[in-house]
Amino acid sequence: MKHRVFIALVISLFVPFLIMFRVSSTPSEPLTSPIPVEETSTSESLRSLAQKRGIYIGPAVAWEPLQNDANYRSVLAQEFNILTPENIMKFEYVHPQRDRYDFTQVDALVAFAKANNIEVRGHPLVWHHALPRWLWLNENKFTRDELIAILREHIQTVVGRYRGQVVAWDVVSEAINRDGSLRDTIWLRNIGPEYIDLAFRWAHEADPKARLFYSDYGNDEEGPKPDAMYNLVRAMLQRGVPISGVGLQTHRHLKEPPSVERIAKNMKRHADLGIEVQFTELDVQIVEATGTWEERLAAQGRVYSDLLRVCLAAQNCTAFMTWGFTDRYTWVNNLTGKVEAPLIFDTSYRPKPAYEALKKALSSGA
Ligand code: XIL
Repeated sequence: MKHRVFIALVISLFVPFLIMFRVSSTPSEPLTSPIPVEETSTSESLRSLAQKRGIYIGPAVAWEPLQNDANYRSVLAQEFNILTPENIMKFEYVHPQRDRYDFTQVDALVAFAKANNIEVRGHPLVWHHALPRWLWLNENKFTRDELIAILREHIQTVVGRYRGQVVAWDVVSEAINRDGSLRDTIWLRNIGPEYIDLAFRWAHEADPKARLFYSDYGNDEEGPKPDAMYNLVRAMLQRGVPISGVGLQTHRHLKEPPSVERIAKNMKRHADLGIEVQFTELDVQIVEATGTWEERLAAQGRVYSDLLRVCLAAQNCTAFMTWGFTDRYTWVNNLTGKVEAPLIFDTSYRPKPAYEALKKALSSGA
């Protein structure tokens, strides 16, 4: 009898604990169940409209709200057909020690995307930022061959793990300076310019079906940097390097609105090479622009829809991606130190004029 009471006591004390522990230690669990989406005739989602136009539409996704904010997850599932992890696939997160990878968070994000029928865009494999300490602190201790081996293993481990589950990768990011020269990075310094070709070849070996992209900012219009990128891509194609497209990050400010003519021209020359283009990180800062708040929101909406129209009109533009989707979570606030409003939903998940402008662009001229 005494024995049974003891067991009952143990169970009643520990089971709630175990449940709590399980819930908090397995954030991936709720992320794997599909979220029901509503579709009414008056409010078609961005994803359903985009699908009819044959393009991907979606945002970068931050890990914290993906785990903790149900509204965040529900807008994601409702509105978008592609997403990219904002940070958790970066080298330092996924490969924190030389002989240890940590895929817990990325696995959970990929499971969320799969459960909700959303494609995943991988970002980024080779970049000069977000490197782990074991790598950048020891740069001088590694030989060229060792760094080649490290980069190859990194790319093939990450791409290989998500083979068939990631439609497109930013293979190399931000390798070109404003003046068109190659950026001085750990990879250029130690491996030489051929690190770019090698990265694409390794990624292709690990997942021959994934689309492989070069991504940068300040590359969407014209000038030394866009020209250098174009020349790089053309030369890579001539060398038989498996590159599918270029990512135009397009972090923008209302003070300098984009030129749709120049972007269309830039897209066209890449189309002539047989290369895809995607807007990959669009956001539009408005806090420092002139006009009333309403005027600025309307002007922001015009920038969003102008860029979407350019993409829809270009035969080779395959994705329209924003860097976040709600002003509640945006990297721009940290970048500028101001409370910005660069995205298409406000901080309470209400659609902004930019959201309506995107819908209109997707619905018209089909
Ligand atoms: C940014 C993230 O949004 C921030 O949270 C992080 O602190 C720094 O990186 N270009 C890129 C992205 O390719 O990976 C960057 O993301 C923004 C600029």
